[in-house]
Amino acid sequence: MGGSGNTSWTNYVSFTNTTQYTGDASHATAAAAAPAAGAASASVGPDDRSRGAQLYQQTCAACHMPDGRGVPGMQPSLLASAVVKGDATTLVRAVLLGPAQVLPADRVKYAVQMPPFAAAMNDADLAETLTFVRRAFGGNAGAITAAEVAARRQRP
Ligand code: HEC
Repeated sequence: MGGSGNTSWTNYVSFTNTTQYTGDASHATAAAAAPAAGAASASVGPDDRSRGAQLYQQTCAACHMPDGRGVPGMQPSLLASAVVKGDATTLVRAVLLGPAQVLPADRVKYAVQMPPFAAAMNDADLAETLTFVRRAFGGNAGAITAAEVAARRQRP
């Protein structure tokens, strides 16, 4: 239900634009993730001009927010995410194939569905984006290489 493509995307973006940072709940979430939040504020923002940061802002931030904190109930925070800082294979697969194909069925559910990015991003761009995400939101979890993305594309 809810359709796919441009209509839901547009509705969704206007929703987040009107709701970001308004709720105390989002502050509570950020406070709970305090160590990661400290890392994020140091590396996210106008001073991070890396290609990965730019790609994140273009491709992921509409949903996960520029500071990675997500929107409660809609999209998860990447700061508190075990997937972001965990096993590289799971992270790459979740973004290539979409989390619904990869993450456990009993995970916390959100009102929005994240699309697969395999067709939308090449290996180098996805590697840069995920390297930024791990550096900024994952407490400096290790970089992701283009070769790792390519390998998961071959053997998803
Ligand atoms: C249309 C909104 C949307 C966009 C765009 C989007 N995501 Fe997501 N993302 C979500 C939602 C919703 C979930 C939760 C999905 C689920 O668990 O089924 C999610 C989950 C994730 C997770 C797993 C988090 C966890 O702890 O379970 C990661 C990692 C992630 N996204 C990274 C990214 C990256 C990197 C990009 C950009 C390349 C991106 N997302 C773009 C909506 C989005």
